[in-house]
Amino acid sequence: MSPDSAKIKLSDIDEERFGIRTAKSSCTTREDIPELLEFCEAHQVELLIARCPAADIEAVQRMERHGFFITDTLVYYSFFLKNKPIPEDAAGIRVRPVSPGEEFVVKDIAQGSFQGYRGHYHADPRLDRKKCDDVYTDWAYRSCFRGSLANEVMVAEYDSTPAGFATLRINSDSEGEGVLFGVAPVFQGKGIYRSLMIGGLTWCVSLGLDVMIVSTQIVNTAVQKVWTRLGFEPSHSYYTFHKWF
Ligand SMILES: CC(C)(COP(=O)(O)OP(=O)(O)OC[C@H]1O[C@@H](n2cnc3c(N)ncnc32)[C@H](O)[C@@H]1OP(=O)(O)O)[C@@H](O)C(=O)NCCC(=O)NCCS
Repeated sequence: MSPDSAKIKLSDIDEERFGIRTAKSSCTTREDIPELLEFCEAHQVELLIARCPAADIEAVQRMERHGFFITDTLVYYSFFLKNKPIPEDAAGIRVRPVSPGEEFVVKDIAQGSFQGYRGHYHADPRLDRKKCDDVYTDWAYRSCFRGSLANEVMVAEYDSTPAGFATLRINSDSEGEGVLFGVAPVFQGKGIYRSLMIGGLTWCVSLGLDVMIVSTQIVNTAVQKVWTRLGFEPSHSYYTFHKWF
């Protein structure tokens, strides 16, 4: 079985970070489970990270029987850009594209905001805490170079100081995605995230896209409050499982 099967892939970046041979499967269905297990055996995988649609309860129960354990629940929301206007941003916060050389500013903001974050890495007690924090810090930093991770990165300024960031991606001709957002702890609760979301919506409209999607852990109520107030609607959800071999 090739290490690049469509359903499961070795994750070099996780292996490098944690020193553990890791594989990832982004959309597992009940039929895929035997193939995932075979792949892991064939490639001496130690940790498998598998996402499955929350609606596929049979897949969930089969994974539980095979010793997978749940590490997070991801909820997706959508904003249909052709159906309604983007709400006004009255907060007076400047949102602009990241400048060359500002990658470390974004990294610093991510370092503060994602420390001890409640994602699937942090939910696995066998993974080193600091390295779990680094997942988000490095992701934010690498996104600034606008490769496959992000097509645009925005920075929000509060009193001329960079206080938050947003990474944005074009998924298709019609769909944009708000991927990773963070606001430095000292600036939280001032509406900066709301301004970043409005910046993301405006970016999607400027590209002529039909829909902007966003996702988060179900326990992240702060962002879901902002989304629902802006007019986003719930769409679908995934569970993330880990399995150790
Ligand atoms: C989530 C986050 C982006 C919100 O940023 P923010 O600029 O503080 O958000 P806003 O000021 O627009 O406030 C949004 C709402 O969340 C609440 N909120 C802000 N920070 C919060 C926190 N740490 N815990 C709980 N609620 C929080 C605000 O009080 C507000 O709700 P309210 O109007 O009912 O009071 C920021 O807390 C953060 O960076 N968190 C860590 C990373 C993260 O969760 N990123 C998003 C997923 S990728």
